[in-house]
Amino acid sequence: LGNGLAKTPQMGWNSWNFFACDISEDVIKETADALVSTGLAKLGYIYVNIDDCWSEPQRDPKGQLVPDPQTFPSGIKALADYVHSKGLKLGIYSDAGAFTCQVRPGSLFHESDDAELFASWGVDYLKYDNCFNLGIDPETRYPPMRDALNATGRTIFYSLCEWGVHDPALWAGKVGNSWRTTDDINDSWASMTTIADLNDKWAAFAGPGGWNDPDMLEVGNGGMSYHEYRAHFSIWALMKAPLLIGCDVRNMTQETFEILSNEEVIAVNQDPLGVQGRKVYSYGPDGCYQVWAGPLSGQRLAVVLWNRGSKPATITAKWASLGIESSTSVSIKDLWKHKCVTENKVASFSARVDPHACEMYIFSPLAVARSAS
Ligand code: DGJ
Repeated sequence: LGNGLAKTPQMGWNSWNFFACDISEDVIKETADALVSTGLAKLGYIYVNIDDCWSEPQRDPKGQLVPDPQTFPSGIKALADYVHSKGLKLGIYSDAGAFTCQVRPGSLFHESDDAELFASWGVDYLKYDNCFNLGIDPETRYPPMRDALNATGRTIFYSLCEWGVHDPALWAGKVGNSWRTTDDINDSWASMTTIADLNDKWAAFAGPGGWNDPDMLEVGNGGMSYHEYRAHFSIWALMKAPLLIGCDVRNMTQETFEILSNEEVIAVNQDPLGVQGRKVYSYGPDGCYQVWAGPLSGQRLAVVLWNRGSKPATITAKWASLGIESSTSVSIKDLWKHKCVTENKVASFSARVDPHACEMYIFSPLAVARSAS
């Protein structure tokens, strides 16, 4: 969407994966505080996004949405002011239907009123869900909110949460800044890997202004191992997915922080070239040895070797399959060990990868400028 936002995938936090409906203004404020005090905000995690359940079950007599007075007694404007005072941005949630998934009022046919209200509160981001949609086509339901947000004069990130039902990658580039390509993630290896594969299909449709969204991060929520979460984060970064933290950042383990704060992996996600990396090939039993890669600015390539099998394995990336001349000599930086592992490598590169783990690298340079002589 050409609203000047999403030049790179959005980064921040969202309440749903960890808190579901158990949210309050205190949780949101404490999360904003934690993003700043841990240093995550400085690394780019700037959106603090409230998901479903922030509003009263009924509109007020004037037809306006009302924040739940028990959990958000100070209102959303005060919360936006607080979040802004920390140098962060506030996101809110509604639904392109009669109700949200948790049966709060939806914004279908209330687009202008609700967009104006969000803008008047100082909201910076809207996640727009797909429940109770009355069977109306999403291409009819989602553009009116884009237009309503645009008409407010406030620049608001527009995140479509249509779950990939009607192949949004094919039409949402003109509608939103990101679009969900799949059903909800859950905190398991099976869900994460399935979603990665589904999202991969739409790689060609992502780019600056609009990104495929394979759903928010589960890193730190406890259902996967350290290596599985590291693979989750690496692949989401490579796929130019939104990096929206979904755990309780007020109580993160050191391991969780180490994953979410890997600046070199974040830089792959935020690279200005904005090309979604993809699964280049897989081989071995059930295709569990996988090579994922994507181009970066500066004639570089991000490469992930991912072992989706249950035994340690040596995985090989061959230049020929990556579209590199076999004789090209490449230096390789390991983004999890934070060191250069080899220089002048030609033809192929192999590494031992633990079960369910991945290793992530930058290959450079892939073309050397010819001297002027
Ligand atoms: C469905 C969405 O896909 C989730 O991310 C979350 O927003 C829930 N709805 C909230 O009810």
